[in-house]
Amino acid sequence: MVTNIAIDGPAGAGKSTIAKRVAKELSFIYVDTGAMYRAMALYLLRNHIRPEDSASMESACQSADVSIIHKNGEQQVLLNGENVTGQLRTEEVGNMASVSSANPKVREKLMQLQQDLARTNSVVMDGRDIGTKVLPDAGVKIYLTASARTRALRRYQELVKQGVSCDLDEIERDIILRDERDMKREISPLCQADDAVLVDSSDLGIDEVVEKIMAVYRARSEQR
Ligand code: DC
Repeated sequence: MVTNIAIDGPAGAGKSTIAKRVAKELSFIYVDTGAMYRAMALYLLRNHIRPEDSASMESACQSADVSIIHKNGEQQVLLNGENVTGQLRTEEVGNMASVSSANPKVREKLMQLQQDLARTNSVVMDGRDIGTKVLPDAGVKIYLTASARTRALRRYQELVKQGVSCDLDEIERDIILRDERDMKREISPLCQADDAVLVDSSDLGIDEVVEKIMAVYRARSEQR
């Protein structure tokens, strides 16, 4: 039987780390939908499409073929056959993805791919609209969040570790801006599904969050 777990929440809440861990525990496939939006954004940037030019964005996205494969359990994103996984996590790509993911044609295309993956595999899928739009029938839905300051601090520590100089307040402002864009857009805005379980990771470690989600999964499995 195919069972799906949907994990939604704002940027920096730890969705991918947590989703990966849960997928590993259950031997499910982990699907990072943000990476798909980022691959599409990379394509648009490479083609010099401006964020405000939605008409060009709509036609350009038709010639971008995004697909995913798994290598040693890690998701790899292919853009027209090229493995672009290592190029997706820059601020430039993230900012473009935040704008281009509000485009209906971009969403339509990627949602199809996400639903196809979940039809044939048990997945832990993370994103913004998985529980509300992509997999409304998912067996388990989690809304994972944390305060903007906590999320900014985590990102700050990550960048410092990579030797990148950055400003904590600026990162926090960026996070709040991105939240607003993701939550206020017209189609598929980020919001908690009615039947999703809210998990606030501000004061929780990774293990504790994973355990909370596993407990929800076990409880739901017993009900079925
Ligand atoms: O989770 P992330 O930062 O990699 O996502 C990049 C952008 O893609 C983010 O601004 C919101 C968007 N996104 C979306 O609209 N729907 C999803 N299911 C996943 C991501």
